[in-house]
Amino acid sequence: MQTMKIPQEVKRRFLQADALLITAGAGMGVDSGLPDFRGNEGFWRAYPEARRLGLSFAELANPRWFEEDPALAWAFYGHRLHLYRTTQPHEGFSLLLQQAQKRQAWFLFTSNVDGQFQKAGFDEDRIVECHGSIHHLQCTRCDAGIWRADGVTVPVDMARFRALDWPHCPQCGATARPNILMFGDWGWDASRTQAQEARFEAFLRRVADENLRLCIVEIGAGTAVPTVRHTGEAIAERLGAFLIRINPREPQIDPQLGAGIPLGGLEGLRALLSR
Ligand SMILES: NC(=O)c1ccc[n+]([C@@H]2O[C@H](COP(=O)([O-])OP(=O)(O)OC[C@H]3O[C@@H](n4cnc5c(N)ncnc54)[C@H](O)[C@@H]3O)[C@@H](O)[C@H]2O)c1
Ligand SMILES: [Zn+2]
Repeated sequence: MQTMKIPQEVKRRFLQADALLITAGAGMGVDSGLPDFRGNEGFWRAYPEARRLGLSFAELANPRWFEEDPALAWAFYGHRLHLYRTTQPHEGFSLLLQQAQKRQAWFLFTSNVDGQFQKAGFDEDRIVECHGSIHHLQCTRCDAGIWRADGVTVPVDMARFRALDWPHCPQCGATARPNILMFGDWGWDASRTQAQEARFEAFLRRVADENLRLCIVEIGAGTAVPTVRHTGEAIAERLGAFLIRINPREPQIDPQLGAGIPLGGLEGLRALLSR
C-alpha cells in the first residue's frame, strides 16, 4: 500500500518538539474497531436500536433517562462500558506513547470517555478526560462523590435495548450513572475532571515558562462537539505551538496554526513517523 507523503517540515516540527500535547476525539478509537458517532447516521449505524426509538445521540445521552427509564439509559451506557473494556487499543496508541516519553514534557487531552489511553499505558496523571469517564460512576441524586466502575457489570438485552440490572449508589441506593458529561447535564460531578485540568494547566505553564517547543497532535476530533479541536487551536495560538490534525474526513486547518493529514489515526501516525 502506498502511504501518503507527509511534508518534511511537518515531520520535523513533530520530531523536534520538546513537548507533546496529544488531543483526541472518538476517531482515535475507530482503528481499534470502535464506532464514532459522527452525525445521526453514524450514531444510528452503531446503535440501530436508537434509530428504532427515534432517539439521536444528543437525545439518548441525556441524564434524564437515568431517572425516567434507567433500563434504557443503562442499555446504552452498559453496552459501551463492556465494549470499551473488551477493546484493545490499536498500535497508534503505543506509537504515540513512545513519542511522548521521549520528550521533556507531555500531556493528553481527550473527549473520549472510553479509557483506551489508560489501557494503552498512558499515565493517569497526564490525562484530561474533558467529558469524564465511563469507568467512573456517580449518584443521580446525592453527593456521594465519584467511584470506580471496576467489577460493575451491566447485562443488556440488546434485542430489546434494555438493561436487566445496573449499579446503585452505595450511600443512598438511588440509580448510579456514569461520571460522563451528557447533553443538558446539570448534575455531572466535575471534580475528577477539574483535578485533571489543574495538572494540565501546570503542564501548559511549564511549557510557557521553560520556552519548550510544543507540538500538538490531534487525532479523530470531530466538528459536531468541537471541544477538542477548539482547545488545541486556542493553545496553538497562545503558545505558538504547531498543530497537526489527523482526520480522514475533516482535516481542514488554518495554515497559520499547523497542517492537516487526511488519513485515519493509525495510518496517519505511521506516515508521520516514517522516514
Ligand atoms: N470512544 C468514546 O469515548 C466516544 C465515542 C463516541 C462519542 N463520544 C463522545 O461524543 C462526542 C463526539 O465527539 P468526537 O468529535 O470525539 O466524535 P465524532 O464522532 O463527532 O467525530 C469523530 C471524528 O473522527 C474522525 N474519524 C473517523 N474515522 C477516523 C479514523 N479511522 N481515524 C481518525 N479519525 C477518524 C471523523 O472524521 C470525525 O471528525 C464527544 O463528546 C465524546 O465524549 C465518545
Ligand atoms: Zn446517592
